[in-house]
Amino acid sequence: DSAEKGGYPHFMLKEIMEQPKVLKDTIQSAINNGDNKKVIDNLDITRFNKIVITACGSAYNAGVVAKYVFERLCRILVEVELASEFRYKDAIIDEKTLVILISQSGETADTIAAMREAKVKGAVTLSIVNVVGSTIAKEADFCIYTAAGPEIAVATTKAFSAQLVLLYILAVGFAVKLGKISGEQEQELLSQIAALPAKLSALLTQVDMIQKYASTCVGYKSIFFIGRNIDYAIALEGSLKLKEISYIHSEAYAGGELKHGTISLIEENTLVVAISNCKQLFGKIMSNVEQVISRGAKVLLIGNCLDVEQNDKLSSISLPESNELFSPSLSVIVLQLFSYYVAANKGLDIDKPRNLAKSVTVE
Ligand code: G6P
Repeated sequence: DSAEKGGYPHFMLKEIMEQPKVLKDTIQSAINNGDNKKVIDNLDITRFNKIVITACGSAYNAGVVAKYVFERLCRILVEVELASEFRYKDAIIDEKTLVILISQSGETADTIAAMREAKVKGAVTLSIVNVVGSTIAKEADFCIYTAAGPEIAVATTKAFSAQLVLLYILAVGFAVKLGKISGEQEQELLSQIAALPAKLSALLTQVDMIQKYASTCVGYKSIFFIGRNIDYAIALEGSLKLKEISYIHSEAYAGGELKHGTISLIEENTLVVAISNCKQLFGKIMSNVEQVISRGAKVLLIGNCLDVEQNDKLSSISLPESNELFSPSLSVIVLQLFSYYVAANKGLDIDKPRNLAKSVTVE
């Protein structure tokens, strides 16, 4: 058992640690002459006036991140829908819609149903799947694979990270074809993506510090995650990861929404994890941080534009510099490790959390 886990106490930690290599392999497959690259090159994005991304769980959260990246780089309309909602809403899609399905297993019942519904309506389907030969990989019109290898822990980590980088590369490829960025900009963006694995490795050397911080957090009743723009998108994944494995109540909110209700939940014994990689919004998120601290919360700030002094109310973890569009790949590493160590400190069954399944194949 321990050998299978590569000496780690849980598959989840092993899979977190595998991420630099998984990213490297996935990036390779989508640039140069990799198999994914051929699929991406064959997809004529100029045929479409809209992209709909649909998925469940963490794969849905990857889609929310992608919406920000696609819209920023490609200036094309992107909708993100939970597959369980999309399949029943009589979606407004047609042959000018590209529907992207994201799934680690390729067998999630709602995502399969969403894909079939999209095809019936004449949309073109592109799947991003980890398990080779799975239903969603086989039935979609186009399929690109994440090179995450088998993922054992129920809570996804490495497959999610691989989905993100494929989505970034897809966005860059589409932006070129749509004439929104130059060849030079394309090369610059691809080199920023190619630099991510080394940045992940650097971040993973901070494990002890994150573990130490997480050990102080097991007593919280509620932990909230906030961010703005793409930081909000990755906050959704941070919150999901934490609740899945630690059983601590958790929600993610857009920073600007705090005053519309959530702030009433902030009191002593609440932790707010604030994510800040969007330089232009740093002041805004810091004003949210001050608002929750003045109501008794403690704050953990995660980001790459942190010019703040830490004190007993405010702790921070710095991320390596990156293009903010690709920063979710760095934020998520800290969020995964934080959730993992909170759950580990509670002595929970991290790889098989209660009531959850790796793949939800029945509705
Ligand atoms: C389950 C898993 C999640 C996963 C979701 C979607 O809830 O526990 O980790 O994100 O299903 O699964 P899929 O295989 O479609 O990515």
